[in-house]
Amino acid sequence: MSDNTYPSVNDLTLEEEASLTSGGDAWHLQGVEAKGIPGYMITDGPHGLRKSLASNTGETDLNDSVPATCFPPAAGLSSSWNPELIRQVGEAMGEECIQEKVAVILGPGVNIKRNPLGGRCFEYWSEDPYLAGHEAVGIVAGVQSKGVGTSLKHFAANNQETDRLRVSANISQRALREIYFPAFEHIVKTAQPWTIMCSYNRINGVHSAQNRWLLTDVLRDEWGFEGIVMSDWGADHDRVASLNAGLNLEMPPTYTDDQIVYAARDGRIQPEQLDRMAQGMIDLVNKTRAAMSVEDYRFDVDAHNEIARRAAVESMVLLKNDDAILPVSRDAKIAVIGEFARTPRYQGGGSSHITPTKMTGFLDALAERGVPVDFAPGFTLDLEPTDPALEAEAVIAARDADVVLMFLGLPEAAESEGFDRDTLDIPAKQIELLKAVAAENKNVVVILSNGSVVSVAPWANNAKGILESWLLGQAGGAALADVIFGDVSPSGKLAQSVPMDINDDPSMINWPGEEGHVDYGEGVFVGYRYYDTYGKAVDYPFGYGLSYATFEIGGVKAVKTGANTARVSATVTNTSDVDAAETVQVYVAPGKADVARPKHELKAFRKVFLKAHESAEVSFDLDESAFAYWSEKFNDWHVEAGEYGIEVGMSSRDIAGVATVALDGDGKALPLTEWSTFGEWSADPVGSKVVADVREAGERGELPKLPDNDMMRMFLGSMPINSMSTLMGESGKAISSFMLDGYAKLVG
Ligand code: BGC
Repeated sequence: MSDNTYPSVNDLTLEEEASLTSGGDAWHLQGVEAKGIPGYMITDGPHGLRKSLASNTGETDLNDSVPATCFPPAAGLSSSWNPELIRQVGEAMGEECIQEKVAVILGPGVNIKRNPLGGRCFEYWSEDPYLAGHEAVGIVAGVQSKGVGTSLKHFAANNQETDRLRVSANISQRALREIYFPAFEHIVKTAQPWTIMCSYNRINGVHSAQNRWLLTDVLRDEWGFEGIVMSDWGADHDRVASLNAGLNLEMPPTYTDDQIVYAARDGRIQPEQLDRMAQGMIDLVNKTRAAMSVEDYRFDVDAHNEIARRAAVESMVLLKNDDAILPVSRDAKIAVIGEFARTPRYQGGGSSHITPTKMTGFLDALAERGVPVDFAPGFTLDLEPTDPALEAEAVIAARDADVVLMFLGLPEAAESEGFDRDTLDIPAKQIELLKAVAAENKNVVVILSNGSVVSVAPWANNAKGILESWLLGQAGGAALADVIFGDVSPSGKLAQSVPMDINDDPSMINWPGEEGHVDYGEGVFVGYRYYDTYGKAVDYPFGYGLSYATFEIGGVKAVKTGANTARVSATVTNTSDVDAAETVQVYVAPGKADVARPKHELKAFRKVFLKAHESAEVSFDLDESAFAYWSEKFNDWHVEAGEYGIEVGMSSRDIAGVATVALDGDGKALPLTEWSTFGEWSADPVGSKVVADVREAGERGELPKLPDNDMMRMFLGSMPINSMSTLMGESGKAISSFMLDGYAKLVG
């Protein structure tokens, strides 16, 4: 590297090289003092900085960290569908790292929300890999634009917390390539995260830290990753095997660098591999050096709080708004019910827990605005049953109000890293309270606080409005007031389907696995890919979200721009008197295919801000990857020739227009053999010529004739040609030999 300022591995002793491949303590790289290589700090992530106050001792106290801006976790931010905004969040986080001298922030986490019960859904982006990758890339690009590194995590397939240190996620190649890898792949190829963190779990039997196929063949050789891979905290169980697989850094250290020295001496680690892994660590230190050398930097606390507020505004999804109950007039008599209004649930639990620089709950925001309200907590945030006195007080508060704002959701103890939920339901006492309040006053708006989807069906008819506010970070209260009083229209869209019942989820039959493994039996049919393909009812579909405005999409057109590429365009119009944003979503719907494909898949989107009655043209270029599937037959991506629908709409179930393109296909074909079926021979460009020769030779009486009744033709179609004798005796054998000879001549 031309910008290297530290010695290269060639200048280090074997012991020094080995020492670079583990941390100095739980939150630092290991420096090489004698050679002047510093041991910079690396720490969580992912929705703000969690720099432990015990950072120099290496201890882990998840809730004891220096103040940092708490941005909305990915559960919220993912609903913004706004990569530009997400990049601004990343830039702000990068600045906070400079102040705190943190060289790498551990995030974002882009694992797929395979099942909404997953304990870390609050810090993951979506059930859809395209959306996850195209949003989270903003964090990586934003942080790194400030000269600070990110750690894209957890590579790969950390989709549940149950048994996460041991479980083998058994996943087909196709599902890995189409669902569990693309968010990582997109970010690696477009933003080169400086580090990647491997997952705890095993994939098809092999721990990620020791998985050479994962860390070297796919990540580096196929995708061109240039950074380093570190272990998740405690995920490296065999230093030698991991280093050979392509893991540069063990975190936290187990103080076993001598194992690497011995293995290098006795040939269990090749010198080139150790050089590669250790040099990666020096390159990382070089990349972060400039930012880590800045002295006395102070980030702008208020400006970052403002970014957190804007991000929170765009994170909310308006699910229901009967009788236009929202926005609420400032003059209305308002009752606010629910402890969450006073004690907001604004982030998730576990390693991502941040100490915010400021905190605005909804009641604080109302006080700031001078809006008088009647508040009753209604319930406690613990797991205790209903408190009748609190419930009675809330019902009284609601009785004479013009509108009741009810803050319901999941208390902190209900979801966290480290365990999965066992129900989608919010606590029963909250539902009971909602029913009691709704019996007194029909004008109820429920404002939900939760990191992953909760069931809505059991109580939705008690509320005229439902605002899904996820976890909104430190400025959430102010942002809620912005939306509830109509200063800004909600514009969030669901990044995750809301099922009617958890047992509708396609992964439930294999959740959370048994006896050390979990089979991803649903394959690529995750989330809406399942619900939409199989016509299953959901409460709210992927991509859904209401606005105070109304929009129309028209003029959907698609033109072919190459053999397997297309440009799609449409016009989106704000048909209301309210300024607001709409997200135009593009789904590709494959026609007839050789493999089972989802009905449609998100392949492009754009959030468009439109003033009242304004229109905008949007266009999107779809490359080959928009049409391809992972073929296990070719062990590669494959675009089949044929017609593809290009759907443009406002959710996966609200498609405004469809255009069709006929693609040429990539022409991939496997050589024909005796094991290819007669049907495959007939469909192949060369094989079909041979089949024609068979027919002609049959007509001339030089070869037995092919059967000409429908039933026999059907049998033949799916029969490898080496079995034709079963159907036709000696004649079948003669025909198959003729075919193999003819084919050999044609292909040379
Ligand atoms: C988590 C990571 C986190 C690390 C360090 C692990 O338990 O899985 O996401 O970055 O701890 O706190």
